[in-house]
Amino acid sequence: MSSSLSYEHKIINYSREELIELVKAAVSESRFEHILRVEKMALKLAEINHFDLEKTSIAALTHDYAKQRPDQDFIEEIHAKQLDPELLSANNAIWHGVVGAELIKDELGIWDEDILNAVRHHTTGNPEMSTLEQIIFMADYIEEGRTFDGVDKARALTFNNLRDGVQYQIKRTIQYLIERNKNVYPSAIDTYNAWVAK
Ligand SMILES: [Fe+2]
Ligand SMILES: [Fe+2]
Repeated sequence: MSSSLSYEHKIINYSREELIELVKAAVSESRFEHILRVEKMALKLAEINHFDLEKTSIAALTHDYAKQRPDQDFIEEIHAKQLDPELLSANNAIWHGVVGAELIKDELGIWDEDILNAVRHHTTGNPEMSTLEQIIFMADYIEEGRTFDGVDKARALTFNNLRDGVQYQIKRTIQYLIERNKNVYPSAIDTYNAWVAK
C-alpha cells in the first residue's frame, strides 16, 4: 500500500520518493528504517480512521527528520525563530519535535500546520491532538519494530479506537518513567492531565 501511494501535490510540490530521499539523507540507516515503519503503521491507522493518506505519509516521513541534528542547530533555530526561550533548557527529545518542525518548514518547504503539530507533539503528546497528531503519536509507539511489554495490547486498543490507544500510551509512558525515577517532561504531565486524569 505505502509503496503505491503517490502524492497529488496538495502539500508539497515534489514526490513521495523525493521526500523519502531527503529524509534518508538526514538520518542514520536504523532511524530511516524506523521512519518507514512509522509511515506504514500511520497509513494503516489513517485508513481505519478515514483520514487523508497524503498528509499522513508526509507527517510520518518527517516526524524524526531532525532527530540526529546537533544541539547547536536547535539552539540557533530557537534564537532565529524567537521561539519560547524556555526551550533552551530542553534537550533533543523535545527539540527534534518542537524545533524540528521549524527545520521542516525551512528545509523541506512543508507549511501545513496539522502536519507540523503532529511533528511537534509526537514525543510528549499534547492536551489537544487532532486526528493526524494522534495517528503519528500512536504509529511511532506501535510500529512493527517495537517489542516492549504491552505492545500487542497497545496495537489492539489503537486499531479498535485511536483515542483509547493515545490514553494507553500516555499512562504507560508516565508509569514507566516514574517507576525508574526518570524525568517526566512538564508537557507530558499536561498531556496526562488532559487525556487520562478524571
Ligand atoms: Fe521522535
Ligand atoms: Fe520516531
